[in-house]
Amino acid sequence: MSVDLHNDSMSTPADPSFQADRAGLQRALSLLLGELGQPSHGSLDLPSGLPEAGFGDVPALERLAPAALGGARRLGDPGFLAHMDPPTPWVAWAAAQWAAGVNQNLLHTDTAPVARELEQIVVGWLAPYFGMDGGHLVPGSTLANLTALWAARELRGVGEVVASEAAHLSVRKAAALLGLDFRAVPVDERQRLREPELGDLSRAALVLTAGTTVTGAVDPLAAAIGDAAWRHVDAPGPGRCG
Ligand SMILES: Cc1ncc(COP(=O)(O)O)c(C=O)c1O
Repeated sequence: MSVDLHNDSMSTPADPSFQADRAGLQRALSLLLGELGQPSHGSLDLPSGLPEAGFGDVPALERLAPAALGGARRLGDPGFLAHMDPPTPWVAWAAAQWAAGVNQNLLHTDTAPVARELEQIVVGWLAPYFGMDGGHLVPGSTLANLTALWAARELRGVGEVVASEAAHLSVRKAAALLGLDFRAVPVDERQRLREPELGDLSRAALVLTAGTTVTGAVDPLAAAIGDAAWRHVDAPGPGRCG
């Protein structure tokens, strides 16, 4: 049997879950603003077993809000001592909602025409500050480390990854995924990579960290210029070092 996809889709009503529900979105915003204005409180009010049926969209938000929003750590509170998770400016909350609403995939210009252009413009602004002429955005440092080390393997044929003992686990993991050896270099009393202990880097990708996970230590970023086959700086949270 042949199916006329065009006519079929024309006669099938759109699923309302995928249409903008103004009242639902406004309720979500008022829950966010209301709960953030309250002192931190709330425990999750959820059944212990998987429910037979859903709660419904807005009732689910209302049920979750007191704990999920009210009980969340207030990263922007003046009394919050800095940690690697920074507070987010309100405009980023709005942009995250836009991004969720359109869910563009940067894979190809067909799937995300404007988002791809936006990415190229932003990379064009930033790349010259790093002496580069291109790049692309990734959603976190684990993927940034993997991508950079993949490039090192493909472009320079590196066989090992060298990083300090205090480097993030994702560096060692990327090396394992890419089939590269991993060598850890000792750190000094301030958790910075000991440059004199670098050894031979002629077939190595050297990963330097600008802001280690536990103490925010910054490795000597000029280490091994000209000696290593590839140099990569893992700078996941510049705010952490500020
Ligand atoms: C130094 C460092 N590199 C990489 C990462 C991984 O970052 P992400 O969680 O964004 O993948 C972290 C996360 O804490 C980190 O501290």
